[in-house]
Amino acid sequence: MQLQTSTWVETEEYLKRNNGIVVPIGSTEQHGPTGLIGTDAICPEVIAKAAGDEADILVAPTFSVGCAQHHMAFKGSMTLRPSTMIATIVDWVTSLRRHGFTRIYFLNGHGGNIATIEAAFSEIYADASLSGGEDPLVCKLRNWWELGEVMAFCKKTYGAAHGSHATPSEVAVTYFAYPEKLSNQELSPKIAPNGRFTDAADYRRNFPDGRIGSNPSLATVADGETLVRMAKKALIKEFEGFAAS
Ligand code: NI
Repeated sequence: MQLQTSTWVETEEYLKRNNGIVVPIGSTEQHGPTGLIGTDAICPEVIAKAAGDEADILVAPTFSVGCAQHHMAFKGSMTLRPSTMIATIVDWVTSLRRHGFTRIYFLNGHGGNIATIEAAFSEIYADASLSGGEDPLVCKLRNWWELGEVMAFCKKTYGAAHGSHATPSEVAVTYFAYPEKLSNQELSPKIAPNGRFTDAADYRRNFPDGRIGSNPSLATVADGETLVRMAKKALIKEFEGFAAS
């Protein structure tokens, strides 16, 4: 069930049986010369939608622009400052809370969002703490690649070519969602360099084609289908436990 394609009447009915909602959250940033700019938003969106189609889970709109300042030297990337993102997450959660949602499950697709999402949760909890009140609201963060057997599959299938940015697993999920975007282009070097970065100029200097440690040309539509199935199964189980807690 998708919030965007539900009516308020259906949402009110849902809230009588479930106080939980999944919010896919990602980023709009370059993913190497062959990866889609929306990869980090598309992955949690596709997995959450699959879960919401199969189980009684309401899925919020995708929070699709995140913390991507380090990708800004590549065309098309968009970013929020951490402070803007915190304020925006607080407003999204406060809106949902007003309607009675007390279990907000963020399914994340971008490692660079983690610290900021956690900081937003602290802002949200601080409201009750500082006012001396109490609120049953619980926010949860889960990265999609931590779900179920996903990481074990990535290690077994891609080994050292998985890397950490523009990974074959995330690219495979986007190919499953948009098979017309499949690219067989060979990249050079096959496996991108590893390392650290600070700002956008530093990132571009160290990782000239945008990838970090990965070989996304290993990605296939079939792998994407497997990854979505594995992640969906684990998401349904974990969300149901969370919503009932
Ligand atoms: Ni990514």
